[in-house]
Amino acid sequence: MEKIKVAVIGCGTIAPSHIQAYLKNELTEIKYFVDIIPERAENYAEKYGVPYTETDYRKILEDDEIVAISVCTPNGTHAQISIDCLNAGKHVLCEKPAAMNMEQVYAMQEAANRNNRILNIGVVNRFHTSVNKVKEMIDRGDLGNIYHVYCSFRSHRGIPGLGGPFTTKAESGGGVLIDWGVHYLDLIFYCLSNPQIKTVSGTAHCQLGKDMENYTYKGMWAGPPNYNGTYDVDDFVTGFIRTDGPTLTLNGAWAQNIGEAAQYIEFLGDKGGIKLQYGGDFKFFTAENGNLLEVTPSYSHSDMFYEEIDGFVKSAIKNEKIRSHIDNVLITSQVMEAIYESSEKGKEVEL
Ligand SMILES: NC(=O)c1ccc[n+]([C@@H]2O[C@H](COP(=O)([O-])OP(=O)(O)OC[C@H]3O[C@@H](n4cnc5c(N)ncnc54)[C@H](O)[C@@H]3O)[C@@H](O)[C@H]2O)c1
Repeated sequence: MEKIKVAVIGCGTIAPSHIQAYLKNELTEIKYFVDIIPERAENYAEKYGVPYTETDYRKILEDDEIVAISVCTPNGTHAQISIDCLNAGKHVLCEKPAAMNMEQVYAMQEAANRNNRILNIGVVNRFHTSVNKVKEMIDRGDLGNIYHVYCSFRSHRGIPGLGGPFTTKAESGGGVLIDWGVHYLDLIFYCLSNPQIKTVSGTAHCQLGKDMENYTYKGMWAGPPNYNGTYDVDDFVTGFIRTDGPTLTLNGAWAQNIGEAAQYIEFLGDKGGIKLQYGGDFKFFTAENGNLLEVTPSYSHSDMFYEEIDGFVKSAIKNEKIRSHIDNVLITSQVMEAIYESSEKGKEVEL
């Protein structure tokens, strides 16, 4: 069978996760790497043996051989690039968050539907083995009635690229909530089969990074800092969400003056509870015949990026909407926008 030709736009940190998965996949062949910084695309082309590079993604849209495209650029560019790709008849896998706000997300969804093309979002935890095991247990009723979910995505010192796109609201749409919280909320909504959201309350604090020169840290991902840049995003967030099912609370910190990371999700049910370590394994707690039980399931993990890309490629070939399709994930963008709105207005928001 002839392989389908794909392209990757944006050759930074996340791109190799897509690239390696395309290279492993028997159905695909990478034709282009694109980056506005030419050396980045060229370096990856040499490293991964890809024939063509471009600096302007619009050029590759003219190539009829290209069927599917990964968009791995900063948040602020997701909407424009994805819409241009969809309008050119390409299927798109756009990295998370879908976009900076709901206006952009709806425009992306509209472009996908109008062009009858697939638009998936990089909600890679939907392909994580543990997450799918938790979802199976919830769907089977092992936890009974789930009345509350708590999640924590807190780090001691984890602000990325101080003064760069990640910390500039106009380029990212927000800080720790939109960057890390997006994964946690998405995973929760997936496991709960997208409950109806009723109200959202939250506060987003811009604290530890705002005095950039005096932010003390050991290392910085997406660094080095640019002290002439901007820092106007949340580095701590808290929220309370009511749904037609369980309530949800969240705490997130790129940085906090507590020297411990806490990155987990707890599902509380009347028959059992689950504590899922983000990116790791989970424990199931229950009571049976007068005994308190703590179960640590053991299983092997599949490669979630491979599964994500394989799902994308197959959904593009069949033109079928799968679990990471924009229609199934935009609930997360709605909730994040509502948390920011609630924080700005200082009151609860109804959806
Ligand atoms: N799924 C995940 O777990 C995960 C992890 C990290 C990042 N991400 C997401 O992936 C996206 C990229 O993050 P990153 O950490 O790789 O950033 P990065 O800054 O390392 O890489 C982005 C690349 O895009 C290039 N670029 C910017 N504008 C462009 C344009 N118009 N055309 C072509 N190239 C352009 C930049 O030059 C850069 O090389 C972000 O939206 C981020 O939220 C997802």
